[in-house]
Amino acid sequence: MTHYFTDNWENVQNFQARPDDILIATYPKAGTTWVSYILDLLYFGQTSPERQTSIPIIDRVPFLEKTILPVVYVACNAKDNVVSYFHFDRMTQIQPEPGDWSSYLHRFMEGKMVFGSWYDHVNGWWKKKQTYSKIHYMFFEDMVEDTGREIDKLCCFLGLSPSAEEKKQITGRVQFDNMKKNDMTNQSTNPILDFKISPFMRKGKVGDWKNHFTVAQNEEFDEDYKKKMKDLSLQFRTVI
Ligand code: A3P
Repeated sequence: MTHYFTDNWENVQNFQARPDDILIATYPKAGTTWVSYILDLLYFGQTSPERQTSIPIIDRVPFLEKTILPVVYVACNAKDNVVSYFHFDRMTQIQPEPGDWSSYLHRFMEGKMVFGSWYDHVNGWWKKKQTYSKIHYMFFEDMVEDTGREIDKLCCFLGLSPSAEEKKQITGRVQFDNMKKNDMTNQSTNPILDFKISPFMRKGKVGDWKNHFTVAQNEEFDEDYKKKMKDLSLQFRTVI
């Protein structure tokens, strides 16, 4: 982790959740901003004045069991996730320099990333779901495929029943093009990001990895993936 988190670790350790809190958990670049904005709109009708930041990226949360918090987990397929993370690392000033794509991809496969291994993260929460009843495990690919359907499922999990009109409005507001234009979600005022290098709301697509992986990299990645992803009940789509 970067020192921005570890410097503050005591507060994380001692954090007391309120009964009406919701934990949003994701591996970096899997759709944190998207699902956070959906929840903001469902609960507040706007970007939340309550949410300072979500706590997206720790897979062991000390306060979880104490309060049985509802957890909304979002996972994105490894290939698109690593591509998005690479571009984010190029533009952000608080993460280590990513270096070239090929070495970055190898570090990702080895789990040597800020916030650790993608493989451990998605598998850890998937496994946790078996013993902890309040986890809603979402997939980025499903959200791209049918945002309205995924909002319905999310509402069902959270016990919310927005009107059809509200739902339609929220579904429209959280479309990629609208979030890209929205200064509350596109991070345009965030001083640690360099938009000359890459936009924060970059592509929002499933399958952009095909523009980055060479054939050889893809074969090597798939081979390694099979060895690491032993639990076949957790399946990702890399195209939709
Ligand atoms: P890309 O870099 O592939 O475009 P996070 O919020 O966890 O940092 O995740 C960022 C990724 O989610 C980025 O992926 C971003 O474009 C994508 N994203 C955010 N909002 C989205 C939306 N409404 N529709 C599709 N993708 C979205």
